[in-house]
Amino acid sequence: MRKPFIAGNWKMNLSLNDAVTFVKELNNNLPDPKKTQVAIAASALFLESMIQNKGEEPLIIAAENCYFEDEGAFTGEISPKALSEMGVTHVIIGHSERRKYFNETDDIINKKIHAVLRNHMIPILCCDETMGRRESDSKISWVVSQVTAGLKGVSSDDAKNIIVAYEPSWAIGTGQTASTDEAEEGCYLIRQTMADLYSDDIANEIRVLYGGSVTDENAEDILSRKDIDGVLAGGSSLNVESFINLANLSTK
Ligand code: 13P
Repeated sequence: MRKPFIAGNWKMNLSLNDAVTFVKELNNNLPDPKKTQVAIAASALFLESMIQNKGEEPLIIAAENCYFEDEGAFTGEISPKALSEMGVTHVIIGHSERRKYFNETDDIINKKIHAVLRNHMIPILCCDETMGRRESDSKISWVVSQVTAGLKGVSSDDAKNIIVAYEPSWAIGTGQTASTDEAEEGCYLIRQTMADLYSDDIANEIRVLYGGSVTDENAEDILSRKDIDGVLAGGSSLNVESFINLANLSTK
């Protein structure tokens, strides 16, 4: 039985004060971590304060990105080693905004996945799909190639802990959610790809999330689908009430 994973991705929003207040307001409002895991990915500048202020709360603190080297002359980059030392346990890798605005290729993303694993954290690998791709391909094969390239050289032992998110970029920040069938189709395809790359057991074990205009109002339907184990919410994770509602939605 896969444990649901509900994650917020704040992107480059909120202030340090907002972030700390938000984390404090979650106190006693999150679901039983034995039943559902809840995470927030935030700017690297906020992570240490969030970790310090979350107290006993079962909140996973995630980074939105990191570099693929642990240390060295890479001015301005975020060290995965430093994130891990700080107590960060999960890192989003390959978000469509990183691919689009920062020219992250599958090769770079693959190196980052290895860097996160090397530093004992869990990558949340995002797979993108554009409307153009969707219209031109009968199958959403871009997702298959992104999972395959992103996980190149990753062992079965590591692969089973990885979280993969299906995030069609035409649904991100647009208010245009994929239909529940489309969301499930993308997540199913990712699971099939994991079965082809690894094994049925690993495909059944890994968690696959859907992201793209998810809110506390449309998530219940999405989460009810067999192959969707959680969500990655951007805009709606910025409001503490919406995020608490989202985190506490009944799953399956
Ligand atoms: P929105 O929920 O704002 O569409 O963003 C989704 C996203 O990019 C999560 O990583």
